[in-house]
This record gives sequence, C-alpha cells and structure tokens, in this order.
Amino acid sequence: MQFTNEELTQKINELKNKLDVTVVAHYYQRDEVFDMGDITGDSLELATRTRDNDSEFVLFCGVGFMGQSVKVLSPNKRVVMPKIACCAMAKMIDGLYFDEAIDFMESNGIGKDNILPITYINSNADVKAKVGEMGGLVCTSSNAKFIITDALKAGKKILFVPDRCLGQNIGNQMGLKSMVIGDETDPNDCDIICYDGFCSVHQLFSLDDIEFYRQKFPGILIAVHPECDPEICDASDFVGSTSQLIKFIKELPEDQKVAVGTEFNMVNRLRDKNTYILSSTKPECPTMNETTLEDVYLTLKAIDDGEPINEIHVDEKTQKWAKIALERMLAL
Ligand code: 13P
Ligand code: SF4
Repeated sequence: MQFTNEELTQKINELKNKLDVTVVAHYYQRDEVFDMGDITGDSLELATRTRDNDSEFVLFCGVGFMGQSVKVLSPNKRVVMPKIACCAMAKMIDGLYFDEAIDFMESNGIGKDNILPITYINSNADVKAKVGEMGGLVCTSSNAKFIITDALKAGKKILFVPDRCLGQNIGNQMGLKSMVIGDETDPNDCDIICYDGFCSVHQLFSLDDIEFYRQKFPGILIAVHPECDPEICDASDFVGSTSQLIKFIKELPEDQKVAVGTEFNMVNRLRDKNTYILSSTKPECPTMNETTLEDVYLTLKAIDDGEPINEIHVDEKTQKWAKIALERMLAL
C-alpha cells in the first residue's frame, strides 16, 4: 500500500511515541528523513550523542559505518538501519587491504613499532579494529588536525586510511610532508602516508567551478569539505567538516555570498539567496539518499511487530578493538 509523505510522517511519529527508540539522522539524509531525527548532526556528533542516550533501539539513518560505530560504542543498544547503505569510501578498504598498506610500509624498512595508524571514521569496524590493535585511533573530519597533532608526539610514521584527500589536506595545513601509497615518494621522507581511498561525491568539485563562481560573483567565498581534492582545498577560502561548514556559513554577514563544496542535501538546507552549491552537477551521496521515509516507517513497524530488521551486529573481537580505537579518539 502506498502512503503519502504526510501519512508516513504521522505513522512514524505515532510509532516513535509508542516505542523505546531514538531516530538518528546524518545531515546528508533527504530532508523528509532528516526531519524525523531526534538526534541530527555530523558523524562525530551522532556517535557521541547516541552513546549518551539510553533508549533500547537506535534507528540510524545514515551509512553503514555510522550505524556500526554506534553499535561498537554501545554494544547493549539494538541498532537498526532503514537501509544498510554503504559509504563508497569505507568500501575501498577492508582488513586485507589494511594489511597490504602495512606490508608496503614494512617493505620500505618501517617496522610495525614505528607506525601509528589513524583511520577516518568513514571505515568499517574491521578496519577500526585493526587500527585499534596496533595502538592507533579513529578521527573525523572535525577533529583530524587535533588527532594528528597529538599522534605526531609519538614520533612515528602516520598511516592514514582510507581518505587520501583528508590525510593530505590536514598534512598541508600543518606543513607536514605526505604521500599516497602508489606514488613514487619514499615513505621514509614523509610524516603521513595515506591510503589511496577517496569520496566520489567530493571529487565532483573542480577548479573550473571555483573559477566560475569567482568570475560571476567577485568577492564570493568558497567553502569546502576536506574530502575534496587538495588542489580544491588549497584554492578555497575555508575548509571544514560538515558542522564546521554550517557554523562558518551561519556566521557570515547576511550579504556575503558563499559557494559550498559538499553534499547536496546539506547545502540545500542552508541555501538562501547568497549560498550556492559549488558544482554544475548535483553532488548527492547516492547511498545517503537511499533511505526513504517509507524505509523508516517499515523499520519502526518491524520493531513494533517484534521482528526488527536490518539490525547491526559486530563480532566480539572486532567490537572490542574498534571500540578501543574510537574511545582513544573520544578521550582526546
Ligand atoms: P562528517 O564527519 O562531516 O559528518 O562527514 C561524514 C561524511 O561522510 C562526509 O562525506
Ligand atoms: Fe561516504 Fe562520500 Fe557519501 Fe560521505 S559523501 S558517506 S564519504 S560516499
């Protein structure tokens, strides 16, 4: 049976009132799904605020690694997802590819004792667990600079996975030497060695887009997410995580124009006459967009029927080490 969005919204609200469930939604979700969120935010906010919340069920509207992070941090909660949508970047690395990256370092004379792995939160629990077991930790785009600054105190080489852009951009901001595995650089000459993963959505922004807006609106500011290519970040006026971008845009004088290089739904929600999307295409995250209002309703209904669907499970060993990697970040 087909319901309208108004009917679905009403049914979802009824079930939310009845069940011991918290609905969590990332900024990149479709508007109608985002509006259903009891907790909304970027990946760091969602991980911490959900951990501090005490309902039995968490219905997570986002991508797989985010739901997994909630389960890892709060193993007693039952985490369900309307769609187990996979972040394309997180899919670019698994435990075996992580081991290959370590082999690359070792084959260049850098022993495991001299490697400190850091994984961007956009990775699955098996990769976070590998990182945790090696004494490493997680970072998000909000705290990557802080985490890397602290990690450097250990005097080791940083293996940064999976996002080559975030690793290089933070390295550039800090005046560090970085490389991407697969290029010709000797890792012994670098502070940060990046795995060759990337976000296909944030690769859509180009120097031509920046040039176009600067010519069309002299004085416009360009603000982008650090998952964009280093040449895009270098050419921009502001680089920040989702929550940092929102704060930056909200604090601009009313008549200041800004073109923003990040996911469409998030920018569109902020859009007014002076806020533009820095792309000639629509930079939507396909997997974030998979979750519909109907999926949210059906997932709540399944809980109500006593047969939850799409529940996240993480095995005990992975949970233990991934939690350690996440908690090292939270402790900082
Ligand atoms: P945030 O950490 O800014 O929420 O980003 C997550 C993400 O997937 C960005 O593409
Ligand atoms: Fe993953 Fe990119 Fe989508 Fe973020 S925007 S969830 S990094 S594919």
